[in-house]
Amino acid sequence: MNIGVFASGRGSNFQAILSAIERGILPARVTVLLSNKIDAGAFEIANAYSLPTVHLSQKQFADEALYAAAMLEVLRSHNVELIALAGYLKKIPTIVVREFRDRILNIHPALLPSFGGQGMYGHHVHEAVLASGVKLSGATVHLVDEEYDRGPIVLQRTVAVDELDTPETLAAKVLKVEHEIYPLALKAFAENRATIHGRSVWIH
Ligand code: GRF
Repeated sequence: MNIGVFASGRGSNFQAILSAIERGILPARVTVLLSNKIDAGAFEIANAYSLPTVHLSQKQFADEALYAAAMLEVLRSHNVELIALAGYLKKIPTIVVREFRDRILNIHPALLPSFGGQGMYGHHVHEAVLASGVKLSGATVHLVDEEYDRGPIVLQRTVAVDELDTPETLAAKVLKVEHEIYPLALKAFAENRATIHGRSVWIH
């Protein structure tokens, strides 16, 4: 299965995906890395693996339709079958969501449907988790639809929230499980073991 990875930042989940492929755990290949940020650390990872990269930002286009068309062209020209958002902070244009319905995954650093939605990214998530007093947090892999963090849940894994946790220590614990479950979720799709039933994703 050909995966297109979208990342805006350092790209540790992107690295986890590449490592899983290298170790033979994930039967897939990354055919392109796309980023909206020219200085994203993910570019260095892609370069280390000699993978094609594309810098694509809505700012480069007069309107959303042209931007979406350019994104679709990148996906088509790199034969992308599944999109993995890995710390990608921009909304995917509706046309692309429709074209890749049920074929876009995202990883979120909390247990959705709590602590998600617009503005809930990075340290904001972990601060909100700690402020709420919940005893468990974790990571969620979900399908992407037209709204932030709303699509059906594919995989989740929990971590304990301790009294002494700070947003930083909690983020580190959650990131560790992100790196474990994202390759597993992608593997289920690559092996055609995931089926979608309304809001439920069954892994066979
Ligand atoms: C991760 O915490 C992920 O859950 C969120 O953005 C962060 C990206 O980290 N969507 P990295 O760039 O993969 O290191």
